Amino acid sequence: MSDNNKKVIGDSKVIITNQNGIHEKLGDIVEKHFNHIFQKPYQEHTKTAFDAVNEIVQQFLLNNPEGDVILDSCCGVGQSTRLLAQQNPQALVIGVDKSAHRIERNVEGFNDVAGYHAENYHLVRADLNDFYRLVKAENWPVAKHYILYPNPWPKSKHVKRRWHGSAVFPTLITIGDKLILRSNWRLYLEEFQFAADIAGLTGDISKVEKQALALTPFEAKYQASDQQCWQLVIQTACYSS
Ligand SMILES: C[S@@+](CC[C@H](N)C(=O)[O-])C[C@H]1O[C@@H](n2cnc3c(N)ncnc32)[C@H](O)[C@@H]1O
Repeated sequence: MSDNNKKVIGDSKVIITNQNGIHEKLGDIVEKHFNHIFQKPYQEHTKTAFDAVNEIVQQFLLNNPEGDVILDSCCGVGQSTRLLAQQNPQALVIGVDKSAHRIERNVEGFNDVAGYHAENYHLVRADLNDFYRLVKAENWPVAKHYILYPNPWPKSKHVKRRWHGSAVFPTLITIGDKLILRSNWRLYLEEFQFAADIAGLTGDISKVEKQALALTPFEAKYQASDQQCWQLVIQTACYSS
Protein backbone atom coordinates (compact mmCIF):
# COMPACT_ATOMS: atom_id res chain seq x y z
CA MET A 1 0.00 0.00 0.00
CA SER A 2 1.25 3.52 -0.70
CA ASP A 3 1.13 6.44 1.72
CA ASN A 4 -2.33 7.54 0.63
CA ASN A 5 -3.60 3.99 1.21
CA LYS A 6 -4.12 3.17 -2.46
CA LYS A 7 -2.82 -0.07 -3.87
CA VAL A 8 0.20 0.40 -6.14
CA ILE A 9 -0.32 -1.76 -9.23
CA GLY A 10 1.34 0.34 -11.96
CA ASP A 11 4.97 -0.53 -11.24
CA SER A 12 5.39 -3.78 -13.12
CA LYS A 13 8.82 -4.30 -14.68
CA VAL A 14 9.15 -5.14 -18.37
CA ILE A 15 10.38 -8.69 -19.02
CA ILE A 16 14.11 -8.99 -19.63
CA THR A 17 15.39 -12.06 -21.42
CA ASN A 18 18.73 -13.27 -22.75
CA GLN A 19 16.97 -14.85 -25.76
CA ASN A 20 16.89 -13.12 -29.18
CA GLY A 21 13.97 -15.15 -30.45
CA ILE A 22 12.40 -18.59 -30.11
CA HIS A 23 14.68 -20.81 -27.99
CA GLU A 24 17.03 -22.68 -30.33
CA LYS A 25 16.40 -26.02 -28.59
CA LEU A 26 12.62 -25.70 -28.29
CA GLY A 27 11.88 -27.85 -31.35
CA ASP A 28 14.02 -30.71 -30.00
CA ILE A 29 12.53 -30.39 -26.52
CA VAL A 30 8.96 -30.54 -27.82
CA GLU A 31 9.72 -33.46 -30.16
CA LYS A 32 11.31 -35.36 -27.28
CA HIS A 33 8.26 -34.82 -25.09
CA PHE A 34 5.98 -36.06 -27.86
CA ASN A 35 8.11 -39.19 -28.21
CA HIS A 36 8.24 -40.07 -24.51
CA ILE A 37 5.16 -40.65 -22.36
CA PHE A 38 5.28 -38.49 -19.22
CA GLN A 39 5.02 -41.05 -16.44
CA LYS A 40 6.01 -39.20 -13.29
CA PRO A 41 3.76 -40.46 -10.44
CA TYR A 42 0.96 -38.14 -9.33
CA GLN A 43 1.45 -36.22 -6.11
CA GLU A 44 -1.04 -37.36 -3.49
CA HIS A 45 -2.44 -33.88 -2.79
CA THR A 46 -3.25 -33.27 -6.45
CA LYS A 47 -4.83 -36.71 -6.88
CA THR A 48 -7.04 -36.13 -3.82
CA ALA A 49 -8.02 -32.64 -5.01
CA PHE A 50 -8.76 -33.96 -8.49
CA ASP A 51 -10.95 -36.82 -7.21
CA ALA A 52 -13.05 -34.33 -5.21
CA VAL A 53 -13.55 -31.88 -8.09
CA ASN A 54 -14.06 -34.72 -10.57
CA GLU A 55 -17.16 -35.78 -8.63
CA ILE A 56 -18.54 -32.24 -8.93
CA VAL A 57 -17.78 -32.15 -12.66
CA GLN A 58 -19.37 -35.57 -13.30
CA GLN A 59 -22.50 -34.54 -11.35
CA PHE A 60 -22.68 -31.28 -13.31
CA LEU A 61 -22.43 -33.16 -16.62
CA LEU A 62 -25.13 -35.60 -15.51
CA ASN A 63 -27.50 -32.72 -14.70
CA ASN A 64 -26.42 -30.56 -17.68
CA PRO A 65 -25.58 -32.82 -20.62
CA GLU A 66 -25.24 -29.71 -22.81
CA GLY A 67 -23.29 -27.75 -20.21
CA ASP A 68 -19.74 -26.57 -20.74
CA VAL A 69 -16.73 -27.10 -18.52
CA ILE A 70 -14.21 -24.24 -18.59
CA LEU A 71 -10.72 -24.75 -17.18
CA ASP A 72 -8.87 -21.72 -15.80
CA SER A 73 -5.27 -22.88 -15.29
CA CYS A 74 -2.84 -20.90 -13.10
CA CYS A 75 -5.85 -18.97 -11.81
CA GLY A 76 -3.99 -17.29 -8.92
CA VAL A 77 -6.57 -15.71 -6.63
CA GLY A 78 -9.37 -16.81 -8.95
CA GLN A 79 -10.56 -13.43 -10.22
CA SER A 80 -10.72 -14.76 -13.79
CA THR A 81 -12.47 -17.93 -12.59
CA ARG A 82 -15.22 -15.83 -10.98
CA LEU A 83 -15.52 -13.51 -13.99
CA LEU A 84 -15.69 -16.40 -16.45
CA ALA A 85 -18.35 -18.04 -14.27
CA GLN A 86 -20.40 -14.86 -14.33
CA GLN A 87 -19.98 -14.45 -18.09
CA ASN A 88 -20.81 -18.13 -18.78
CA PRO A 89 -23.79 -19.02 -16.57
CA GLN A 90 -24.33 -22.28 -18.48
CA ALA A 91 -20.81 -23.45 -17.65
CA LEU A 92 -18.98 -24.91 -14.70
CA VAL A 93 -15.65 -23.10 -14.31
CA ILE A 94 -12.76 -24.86 -12.60
CA GLY A 95 -9.86 -22.66 -11.48
CA VAL A 96 -6.59 -24.44 -10.64
CA ASP A 97 -3.50 -23.08 -8.95
CA LYS A 98 -0.72 -24.76 -7.00
CA SER A 99 -0.48 -21.95 -4.48
CA ALA A 100 -2.71 -22.48 -1.44
CA HIS A 101 -1.95 -18.92 -0.40
CA ARG A 102 -3.40 -17.52 -3.64
CA ILE A 103 -6.34 -19.93 -3.88
CA GLU A 104 -7.43 -19.16 -0.32
CA ARG A 105 -7.08 -15.40 -0.64
CA ASN A 106 -10.18 -13.40 -1.35
CA VAL A 107 -9.92 -10.96 -4.22
CA GLU A 108 -9.95 -7.72 -2.30
CA GLY A 109 -12.75 -5.38 -3.38
CA PHE A 110 -13.55 -7.61 -6.35
CA ASN A 111 -17.22 -8.20 -5.52
CA ASP A 112 -17.88 -4.47 -5.27
CA VAL A 113 -16.04 -3.62 -8.48
CA ALA A 114 -17.53 -6.38 -10.60
CA GLY A 115 -21.01 -6.41 -9.04
CA TYR A 116 -20.09 -10.05 -9.03
CA HIS A 117 -22.41 -12.94 -8.30
CA ALA A 118 -21.98 -16.50 -9.48
CA GLU A 119 -21.84 -19.92 -7.90
CA ASN A 120 -20.92 -22.01 -10.91
CA TYR A 121 -17.21 -22.21 -10.16
CA HIS A 122 -14.71 -24.09 -8.01
CA LEU A 123 -11.15 -23.24 -7.05
CA VAL A 124 -8.78 -26.15 -6.66
CA ARG A 125 -5.30 -26.26 -5.21
CA ALA A 126 -3.33 -28.65 -7.41
CA ASP A 127 -0.21 -29.01 -9.53
CA LEU A 128 -1.17 -28.80 -13.19
CA ASN A 129 1.70 -31.13 -14.20
CA ASP A 130 -0.44 -33.86 -12.64
CA PHE A 131 -3.90 -32.28 -12.93
CA TYR A 132 -3.75 -32.07 -16.75
CA ARG A 133 -3.02 -35.81 -17.01
CA LEU A 134 -5.93 -36.59 -14.67
CA VAL A 135 -8.30 -34.36 -16.71
CA LYS A 136 -7.20 -36.18 -19.86
CA ALA A 137 -7.63 -39.61 -18.27
CA GLU A 138 -11.20 -38.71 -17.22
CA ASN A 139 -11.85 -37.14 -20.62
CA TRP A 140 -13.42 -33.93 -19.30
CA PRO A 141 -15.30 -32.21 -22.13
CA VAL A 142 -13.54 -28.86 -21.69
CA ALA A 143 -14.99 -26.21 -24.00
CA LYS A 144 -12.40 -23.53 -23.25
CA HIS A 145 -9.03 -23.78 -21.54
CA TYR A 146 -7.55 -20.52 -20.24
CA ILE A 147 -3.91 -20.07 -19.18
CA LEU A 148 -3.69 -16.42 -18.16
CA TYR A 149 -0.28 -14.91 -17.48
CA PRO A 150 1.68 -18.06 -16.62
CA ASN A 151 5.07 -17.53 -14.98
CA PRO A 152 7.24 -16.54 -17.98
CA TRP A 153 10.61 -17.98 -16.90
CA PRO A 154 12.41 -15.56 -19.27
CA LYS A 155 15.96 -16.87 -18.72
CA SER A 156 16.97 -19.10 -21.62
CA LYS A 157 18.12 -21.89 -19.27
CA HIS A 158 14.59 -22.11 -17.83
CA VAL A 159 12.85 -22.90 -21.12
CA LYS A 160 11.65 -26.29 -19.82
CA ARG A 161 9.75 -24.53 -17.03
CA ARG A 162 7.56 -22.76 -19.61
CA TRP A 163 4.39 -24.74 -20.36
CA HIS A 164 5.38 -25.39 -24.00
CA GLY A 165 8.79 -26.70 -22.84
CA SER A 166 7.33 -28.95 -20.17
CA ALA A 167 6.86 -32.72 -20.31
CA VAL A 168 3.10 -32.27 -19.87
CA PHE A 169 2.76 -30.13 -23.03
CA PRO A 170 1.61 -33.03 -25.27
CA THR A 171 -1.25 -33.63 -22.79
CA LEU A 172 -2.01 -29.97 -22.13
CA ILE A 173 -2.42 -29.25 -25.84
CA THR A 174 -5.16 -31.89 -26.19
CA ILE A 175 -7.36 -30.36 -23.47
CA GLY A 176 -10.32 -28.24 -24.49
CA ASP A 177 -11.86 -27.23 -27.80
CA LYS A 178 -10.16 -23.86 -27.56
CA LEU A 179 -7.05 -22.73 -25.72
CA ILE A 180 -6.68 -19.08 -24.69
CA LEU A 181 -3.24 -18.05 -23.46
CA ARG A 182 -2.33 -14.52 -22.34
CA SER A 183 1.04 -12.97 -21.49
CA ASN A 184 2.79 -9.60 -21.38
CA TRP A 185 5.76 -11.35 -23.05
CA ARG A 186 4.94 -11.82 -26.73
CA LEU A 187 7.83 -14.26 -27.21
CA TYR A 188 6.18 -16.67 -24.75
CA LEU A 189 3.15 -16.82 -27.03
CA GLU A 190 5.31 -17.11 -30.18
CA GLU A 191 7.14 -20.06 -28.62
CA PHE A 192 3.86 -21.69 -27.58
CA GLN A 193 2.55 -21.17 -31.12
CA PHE A 194 5.76 -22.75 -32.48
CA ALA A 195 5.35 -25.76 -30.15
CA ALA A 196 1.65 -26.11 -31.07
CA ASP A 197 2.62 -26.13 -34.72
CA ILE A 198 4.72 -29.24 -34.06
CA ALA A 199 1.49 -30.80 -32.74
CA GLY A 200 -0.25 -29.78 -35.98
CA LEU A 201 -2.17 -26.88 -34.44
CA THR A 202 -2.31 -23.25 -35.50
CA GLY A 203 -3.34 -20.16 -33.60
CA ASP A 204 -3.36 -16.39 -33.83
CA ILE A 205 -1.75 -13.80 -31.58
CA SER A 206 -3.55 -10.51 -30.99
CA LYS A 207 -3.45 -7.57 -28.60
CA VAL A 208 -5.57 -7.71 -25.46
CA GLU A 209 -7.77 -4.62 -25.51
CA LYS A 210 -8.07 -2.79 -22.21
CA GLN A 211 -11.39 -3.47 -20.46
CA ALA A 212 -12.89 -1.54 -17.55
CA LEU A 213 -12.19 -4.60 -15.42
CA ALA A 214 -9.10 -6.63 -16.27
CA LEU A 215 -9.62 -10.39 -16.42
CA THR A 216 -6.89 -11.00 -13.83
CA PRO A 217 -4.85 -9.05 -11.25
CA PHE A 218 -1.66 -9.58 -13.30
CA GLU A 219 -3.39 -8.18 -16.38
CA ALA A 220 -4.47 -5.15 -14.34
CA LYS A 221 -0.91 -4.69 -13.11
CA TYR A 222 0.64 -4.84 -16.59
CA GLN A 223 -1.97 -2.53 -18.10
CA ALA A 224 -1.53 -0.02 -15.28
CA SER A 225 2.20 -0.04 -16.16
CA ASP A 226 1.36 0.63 -19.85
CA GLN A 227 2.63 -2.78 -20.92
CA GLN A 228 0.92 -4.41 -23.89
CA CYS A 229 -0.76 -7.73 -23.05
CA TRP A 230 -1.05 -10.39 -25.76
CA GLN A 231 -3.41 -13.29 -26.41
CA LEU A 232 -2.90 -16.51 -28.35
CA VAL A 233 -6.01 -18.49 -29.33
CA ILE A 234 -5.64 -22.04 -30.60
CA GLN A 235 -8.49 -24.22 -31.83
CA THR A 236 -7.56 -27.53 -30.27
CA ALA A 237 -10.78 -29.43 -31.00
CA CYS A 238 -9.43 -30.99 -34.21
CA TYR A 239 -6.51 -32.54 -32.38
CA SER A 240 -6.34 -36.02 -30.94
CA SER A 241 -3.18 -37.44 -29.42
C1 LIG B 1 1.96 -14.97 -12.74
S1 LIG B 1 0.76 -15.80 -11.80
C2 LIG B 1 -0.75 -15.41 -12.69
C3 LIG B 1 -1.98 -15.62 -11.84
C4 LIG B 1 -3.29 -15.19 -12.52
N1 LIG B 1 -3.58 -15.97 -13.69
C5 LIG B 1 -3.26 -13.73 -12.88
O1 LIG B 1 -3.11 -13.41 -14.07
O2 LIG B 1 -3.41 -12.90 -11.96
C6 LIG B 1 1.06 -17.48 -12.26
C7 LIG B 1 0.33 -18.49 -11.41
O3 LIG B 1 0.61 -19.79 -11.90
C8 LIG B 1 0.62 -20.68 -10.79
N2 LIG B 1 1.35 -21.90 -11.18
C9 LIG B 1 2.62 -21.99 -11.63
N3 LIG B 1 2.94 -23.28 -11.87
C10 LIG B 1 1.84 -24.02 -11.56
C11 LIG B 1 1.57 -25.42 -11.59
N4 LIG B 1 2.49 -26.31 -11.97
N5 LIG B 1 0.34 -25.83 -11.22
C12 LIG B 1 -0.60 -24.94 -10.82
N6 LIG B 1 -0.39 -23.61 -10.76
C13 LIG B 1 0.81 -23.14 -11.13
C14 LIG B 1 1.31 -19.88 -9.70
O4 LIG B 1 1.04 -20.38 -8.41
C15 LIG B 1 0.73 -18.48 -9.94
O5 LIG B 1 -0.42 -18.25 -9.15
